[in-house]
Amino acid sequence: MSEQRADRGLSWNEQVIKEFRENNGAVGGMFEGAPLVLLTTVGRKSRKPHTNPVIHLRDGERHLVFGSNAGSDKHPDWYHNLLASPQVTMEIGTEDGAVKPFATRAVPLEGEERHHYWELQCSLAPPFRRYEEQTDREIPVVALYPLDLSAESERTRPIGQQLIAHHQDLRAELARVRAEIEGALTGGDGPEGVRPPAAGLTEELRRRCLTYCYGLQLHHIREDGAFSAFERQWPWLGPAIERLRAEHRVVEEALAGFEELLEQARNGETDAAAVHDELEKVTGGLEDHFAYEERVLLPALDQSPSPSPPSP
Ligand SMILES: [Fe+2]
Ligand SMILES: [Fe+2]
Repeated sequence: MSEQRADRGLSWNEQVIKEFRENNGAVGGMFEGAPLVLLTTVGRKSRKPHTNPVIHLRDGERHLVFGSNAGSDKHPDWYHNLLASPQVTMEIGTEDGAVKPFATRAVPLEGEERHHYWELQCSLAPPFRRYEEQTDREIPVVALYPLDLSAESERTRPIGQQLIAHHQDLRAELARVRAEIEGALTGGDGPEGVRPPAAGLTEELRRRCLTYCYGLQLHHIREDGAFSAFERQWPWLGPAIERLRAEHRVVEEALAGFEELLEQARNGETDAAAVHDELEKVTGGLEDHFAYEERVLLPALDQSPSPSPPSP
């Protein structure tokens, strides 16, 4: 067991993910030597981002993953998640020595094609044959197609429009959450006429805060994946993208702290005032981040497939 595996307080899944990211995709234990990628999908009901290590098979530009679930009778959750929302972020080790995220579109294979690649995988990795024998279900084979703007130039403008729409949604949701927390602080009516107990945080408001956190996390995870395609297509965006990624990491850390505080609120260990202050900290600078992102990315996304770098 490697040193990273000994980390306390992390689930098995979290330990593998940490080790993967710290070692350019290589992990020890049962995954030693296996070609792994991390998939981040979104929970169907919770809308929470979920990350899972899975074995993949490279097939040209696409990557194939297998919903074996170690021979269980149930499909893995990530498979159900990607059927509902096929935008999947895939992390993989690279020649640069660091794991990189990629925005991908997931497409389950069917019929002959599925059969062909399933048989190929079983011949390359015999445990997969055992998994098949342990269950009656047909094990899904899913192709992940990384976003490639040189091949899908017609997608750049819709991506820019989505970016603006997501920022608007996040701003609106933040305004609602803020108003409700302020209502809880004063004991006044919230926007929907709900009167929460003064200085308290109702379960509904706690859940609303969490939903906001998950939405922001997901937005940044998906952006980080899309940025890899942007860098490839428009190399001069590199420094701006580096800054945006660094800002995402700051927000991610702050969100983890905020989630912990919400858990404490659930147990009655903290109150709405503390949640209010922490939310202000988490979201401080977010508006500047959105504005900078729109300023540097939208001109590239809005242009033809191979625009020139902006003149100095
Ligand atoms: Fe961002
Ligand atoms: Fe954004």
